[in-house]
Amino acid sequence: MHANSPPAAAPVVVDHVAALRAAVAQARAAGRKIGLVPTMGALHEGHLSLVDASRGQCGCTVVTIFVNPAQFGPQEDFSRYPRTIEADLQQLAQRGADLVFVPGESEVYPPGHCTYVEMQGPALPWEGVCRPGHFRGVATVVLKLFEMVQPDVAYFGRKDYQQCCVIEQLVRDFNLPIELRICPTVREADGLAMSSRNRYLSSDERRQALVLHRALQHASQQVAAGMRDAVGLREELATLIAAEPGVRLQYLAIADPRSLAELSTIDQPAVALVAAYVGSTRLIDNEPLLPPPLPNR
Ligand code: PAF
Repeated sequence: MHANSPPAAAPVVVDHVAALRAAVAQARAAGRKIGLVPTMGALHEGHLSLVDASRGQCGCTVVTIFVNPAQFGPQEDFSRYPRTIEADLQQLAQRGADLVFVPGESEVYPPGHCTYVEMQGPALPWEGVCRPGHFRGVATVVLKLFEMVQPDVAYFGRKDYQQCCVIEQLVRDFNLPIELRICPTVREADGLAMSSRNRYLSSDERRQALVLHRALQHASQQVAAGMRDAVGLREELATLIAAEPGVRLQYLAIADPRSLAELSTIDQPAVALVAAYVGSTRLIDNEPLLPPPLPNR
């Protein structure tokens, strides 16, 4: 399968690293660039847009589906995380993925596995505080998937903004010869960021969840109009979100887009990051904040 060719039939599905490596080696020997889309399954248009991006640039698109236990805390939704493998494979066939790696837990973490990635820097704030150990699990599994597939390019969605920063740091710190492509957040028509967890929402909660996108849009408009006071803006947004019953804000950050350090003044491009429970479902979203250019003196 070459870049931009029409979708092929069903992708090859493998569940062992040896078979994965053999299939990737064959594609590479045929001169194809290898694109990797790591996922936890329960695929939606957000994931499929990454597959499309990979197909546009790479001759062989590898999708991994693995619900990684190491990135879930003890009180989190690992056991109820949606597992929809048949539907996922059907969608991947329609979108022309070439190879799907669906390992069991013992293939990724065989007995005796004891090496983990402990990251500081971008892994520490926000999600790092609310979900201790989460990025240790993400960085470990992503490094392992990178080693297993050895892709030329790997695709991630901007919806998980802090995760993208963590993976960029991982690639830099371990000198990995992998190009990262961070693709735009895909949203429902009403603005809700697509997420595998949206399926947990009742119809009331689904409506209440829209306040997150509304708040982020408001932030982006205020900053574009010249608002520089990050503390005041944060208060405004928190009030807006608090007005929606059923939504419990976990954090709302206005941060430096690289270090993720909290800002008090927005005089450079920044990012707004939000995490909230809507009922019992935890959602995250983010939006770039672009201040107007300074007038020429
Ligand atoms: O974003 C996800 O789905 C997961 O965190 C990832 C990158 C596949 C690692 O398990």
